[in-house]
Amino acid sequence: MRVLVTGAAGFIGHALCQRLLARGDVVTGIDSLNDYYPVQLKRDRLATLSAAGGNRFAFHHLDFSDMAALNAALDGTGIDRIVHLGAQAGVRYSIENPQAYVSSNLAGHVNLLELARHRRVEHMVYASSSSVYGGNAKLPFAVEDRVDHPVSLYAATKRADELMSETYAHLFRTPLTGLRFFTVYGPWGRPDMMMWNFTAKILAGQPIPVFNHGDMYRDFTHIDDIIAGVMACLDHAPADDGAEKAGGSIKPHALYNIGNNRSEPLLKVIGLLEEACGRKAAMEMLPMQPGDVHKTYADIEAIRRDLGYAPTTSIEEGVPSFVRWYREYHGV
Ligand SMILES: NC(=O)c1ccc[n+]([C@@H]2O[C@H](COP(=O)([O-])OP(=O)(O)OC[C@H]3O[C@@H](n4cnc5c(N)ncnc54)[C@H](O)[C@@H]3O)[C@@H](O)[C@H]2O)c1
Repeated sequence: MRVLVTGAAGFIGHALCQRLLARGDVVTGIDSLNDYYPVQLKRDRLATLSAAGGNRFAFHHLDFSDMAALNAALDGTGIDRIVHLGAQAGVRYSIENPQAYVSSNLAGHVNLLELARHRRVEHMVYASSSSVYGGNAKLPFAVEDRVDHPVSLYAATKRADELMSETYAHLFRTPLTGLRFFTVYGPWGRPDMMMWNFTAKILAGQPIPVFNHGDMYRDFTHIDDIIAGVMACLDHAPADDGAEKAGGSIKPHALYNIGNNRSEPLLKVIGLLEEACGRKAAMEMLPMQPGDVHKTYADIEAIRRDLGYAPTTSIEEGVPSFVRWYREYHGV
């Protein structure tokens, strides 16, 4: 299988490439190596892929919002399936730098849809986000729920990606699956996210910023469970049979939540981090941040029913294993 992975130097892209290479696939990775967080981490991730894949892993350093560059780099490269994970991530940063989201998440997504269309790929799986549920009061969040009230530009671009994908599934019958990921964490994670940031601060003896005075809940999903879900989706393209797919489309376009199906209180996670780090956290209690949501909680019935997805990593196991990786990577 020849798979194109965008965002290959990113947290989820790197883990996915590792899994694809381990099963013998030929992987072409794309990433712009943007400096939203330290580029060295992205380079270190890529080094592990080159080591694992040898000549089955090729990498193109490019910005996929540039269609000409994308076409030129992939000229002559065979692609059976695409996993489009590259994006400008982060809810809070979309308030500071909206243009980065327009370019990567809107123009970039259309470019990947165009590539999938013209190359007639078997399937493109793409990353959406739990943030599309905004401040929905009905919990857990299910793919059948309305998602018309995003509370950040990031969320709005991810919802727009789903809508643009629907038109490609309709007009060109391109088989597409959108995945709404719920707060992913684990080894090789993201420095801008809570789990990494709190670990770094607790180990350094610095106070951690606790938003909404700790009254926050997240459905934390371990990277291994996310990758198991992406792989299951990748190997099951939605059929063009007129039947209703998860998320309500009657085109070859499915939408799934990938979460852990547990909404964990932030303070519980802080307790687990303290235990794993072997020291108490100094907490700086702060109000809710603009663009943030109070609670996320994934209904995973659709992906369980269609693909047998079942998360296996609890935060009680996942948090200490992340802290172990963090300490080893940083030598602290
Ligand atoms: N990690 C999470 O908790 C989470 C939750 C919901 C959704 N997602 C989505 O999952 C996907 C992967 O997220 P991640 O956590 O691995 O983020 P990440 O930031 O680690 O990885 C994204 C990668 O995409 C690259 N990129 C961005 N714009 C690009 C462009 N125009 N051209 C080429 N490369 C570009 C970045 O350099 C980065 O390496 C993203 O679409 C993100 O929005 C992640």
